[in-house]
Order: sequence, then structure tokens, then C-alpha cells
Amino acid sequence: MAAAKNEGVEKMEKVVSLCKRRGFVFQGSEIYGGFVGSFDYGPYGVELANNIKAAWWKAMVQGERNIVGLDSAIVTHPKVWEASGHVGGFSDPLVECRECNTRSRADHLLEEVDVFADEKMSVEEINTLFDANRDKLVCPKCGQKNFGTVRQFNLLAQTNLGNFSEDWSKEPAYLRGETCQGIYINFKNVLDSTRVKVPFGIAQIGKAFRNEIAPRQYIFRKREFEQMEMQMFVSPEEEMSLYEVWKAKRMQYYIDLGFKPENLRFHEHENLVFYAKAAFDIEYNFPFGFKELEGVHARGSYDLTQHQTFSGVSMEYTDPYTNAKYIPHVVETSVGLDRTFLAVMSEFYDEDELGGETRVVLRLPKQLAPIKVAVFPLLKNRPELIAKAEEVFALVSKEMRAEFDDNGNVGKRYRRQDEIGTPYCVTIDFETLGEEKPELKDTVTIRHRDTGEQVRVAISDLIDTLK
Ligand code: GAP
Repeated sequence: MAAAKNEGVEKMEKVVSLCKRRGFVFQGSEIYGGFVGSFDYGPYGVELANNIKAAWWKAMVQGERNIVGLDSAIVTHPKVWEASGHVGGFSDPLVECRECNTRSRADHLLEEVDVFADEKMSVEEINTLFDANRDKLVCPKCGQKNFGTVRQFNLLAQTNLGNFSEDWSKEPAYLRGETCQGIYINFKNVLDSTRVKVPFGIAQIGKAFRNEIAPRQYIFRKREFEQMEMQMFVSPEEEMSLYEVWKAKRMQYYIDLGFKPENLRFHEHENLVFYAKAAFDIEYNFPFGFKELEGVHARGSYDLTQHQTFSGVSMEYTDPYTNAKYIPHVVETSVGLDRTFLAVMSEFYDEDELGGETRVVLRLPKQLAPIKVAVFPLLKNRPELIAKAEEVFALVSKEMRAEFDDNGNVGKRYRRQDEIGTPYCVTIDFETLGEEKPELKDTVTIRHRDTGEQVRVAISDLIDTLK
């Protein structure tokens, strides 16, 4: 157990170090000493993040006949968050250290000593659990065991956008705490402007904000993060069967991306919110253990009913075949981009030996790789090699994200590309110029990341071979 924990810590350190060293992830506001819970994606990070979003969109929108996309506003009418229940009840249990005033999440402190508190517990229930374990609970900052009482802390972040009064905080707007509320409030618009019929889904990718008490585990828990959510609007009768369909589809999605099945598992929620029929997490085996990657939820008609009550606009749907009228129920799939990013980096990080040298290699699936191909002139000081390599780069970069590298020996260039997960490196050498063997003129070598194997192909076949 302890050995596995140490291995996990070591793996996490390696992933974090690679992310920084190679420009995947930077600490937010680093030159100002950092800003807790915020991170920036660097040049390779933004490519990977965009590819993760594209893969999700491809599976959820492009590949599904009855799902359409949406991009709703981040800041909405404040009533949206009253209707959703976030103003009243979107909170985490906070406890303060009486010695150093550090605020921690009570459920996370309990988890450290293997006592599990559900997020949905009442404040009385969690205080009882906390009191029963006080002798074991240690402040992560000062190491003392002197905590105050647990209280609920609301996670919604407020903003004065559009409110110019001095005391705007009396009537704040909110940065959305989840993207799906933008989907619910556009349910009618989508229904009335497109040809969708229940069951149909609306998918959205976008930023969400939560005043997390203790952001932690790198990009796993941030205050500003991105969600990829899909709400499937279904009839009451179909809710549970479609829920099972989506649970299975979302698990299969990760396997199809290349994740090892043993690194994924379902975890059923023990305490459901009162309106939910079922809720499962898909957990991933992060370096710090199995944790929630995605949630799949059967939410009943709660969301649309709430918005109908608060807005006064009917959310009723009339079945075009049976004329039955009902408020659609919702099956939700919700995953964080940042968590997927961390899962991808952990899953595909590897170290091996190639050609007698140890190397770090990101075995990313091609569709996720930030750079699909790197183009190298064999030597930097031969203008004819550079000119040909620039020609090849111009050709491939029209089709895919490519990188040109003429710096250092070719072995070093391979290592640099292996570390960022580039599946192919293409080298332009003297044979490409046809100087020694005219029959090899206008051919290049393609070197494969995972095996180091090299093959020679004609430039005219290059794009098809790389695709
Ligand atoms: N609409 C449902 C919803 O938002 P959730 O379980 O609170 O449900 C869904 O969040 C997903 O969003 C999580 O499974 C996780 O991947 C991601 N997520 C939630 N809070 C996050 C945070 N603070 N930082 C990064 N990702 C987060």
C-alpha cells in the first residue's frame, strides 16, 4: 500500500515536471507568485486540450444523430442559479484551523484518515463524524489538531458584471458553477429552432467556476476549469434505460481513446440528491488513486421543472406521435477537461529504453498528440537540406499540426518529440536530394515514436502515410 503510494507520488512529480518543462501547463500568474487554483495551458498544453475537446465533440455531437451543440453565456440572469439550487445549497464543508487559520475541506481531512464523508451529508452529520475523529485530524499547514466547527461554504463565485451600484454584492450575478444550466435554459430555444425530438441531447464545452476551499492535486481541482457536458432530454419511461446506455457509452469512450480498462471503474453515489434517480462516477486511477473523472446522472425532471417555476415559461413537451405532454427528464454526462488532461498525461506517460538510452515517451493516441509530425533537415548547415525540409514542412503543415526542428543532433530531436508524444518524425537527408542514390530522390524517412522503427517513403505518399 505504502509502496504504491510512493510510486504514485513519484509518477505525479514526473508528470508535473514534464508538463512544466515542455510547456504543457504553467502555474497561473506565476510571475506574481502564483494564484491558487489557477493554471495556464502552454503551447503544447493548448494543443492537447483542444484535441481532447475535439475528441469529445466528435464522439458526442458529430457521432450522434440526436445530439446538437451549444455555446451559452458564462454569466446568466442570477435567477438561473436560484432555480438550480446553487445559491441555496451549492456548498462544501469548510473547517478552519484555530492555530494558523488555514481553511480546509472537512471531508478531505477525514479522507486522509480513511473516513469517508459524502459531499451530500448535512452539516450536522459531518460535524458528528468530524468530532468523532478529531484526535486523528491534522492541519495540512501547521500540523496541529485544533479545528473549529465545520460549516457549509457556498462555492458560487459572484461578479458585478452589468451591476454598477456600490453595493452590488446584494444583488450579484454569478460565474456559472456548471455549464449545464446554460443547456437547460436553452431547451425551448433548441426545441423550437431545430428538428430535434425527444430523446435528444444538447452538448456544450465551456468554462465553469467554483470557489473551491482547497484546490489541490494540480489541475484535478481548480477554481476556474472547463466542463464538457451533455444533457439528454428523455421521456420519463425511457430515463433509466437511456441512463444505462450512456453509462456504458461513456466508459467505452475512454477505452476507445486508448485507456487501459483496469485504470477505469464505476463508483456508485451512496447519497443521492433528493431528485436524482441514479448517479455513477467514472473513476480513473490517477497517480494519487482512483478519483472521479466523469459523472453520469439520471436527474429526473428536476432541472426543467425548476426553470419552469422560476421563469414562468412552460418547459412542457408534446410527443408528436402520442400527443402525451410531459416535462422531459434528463440523463447527464459531465466531465472536466482538466481532469481528462491529467488522466491522459498520467495514462500515456512512459519511460523505456530505446537504442541503449532511457527515454521519456508520451504514448498519446495520434488524435490527441499536440504535434502530429516533426520535420527535420539532417544537418543545419546545408542550405539544400534546409530548403527541401521547408518544402516538406509546408506540405504537411497544411494537413496537420507539424513542427520544424533543425536544432542539435537527430537523436536529441527524436527525444524531444518523444517527450511531447509526437507520433512521427520525418527526416530529410542526402538521399532525399538524390545525391548518392538517384532512385531515392524525393523520399524521406519516417521514424515511429513507439518502436523507433524507420521507413522510407516518397514525399508524394507522405500525407497519406501520416494520416
Ligand atoms: N452538471 C453536473 C456537475 O457539474 P460535478 O460532479 O460537480 O457535476 C462534473 O462536476 C465534472 O466536472 C467532474 O466529474 C469533474 O470532472 C469536473 N469538475 C468538477 N469540479 C472541478 C474542479 N474544481 N476542477 C476541475 N474539474 C472539476
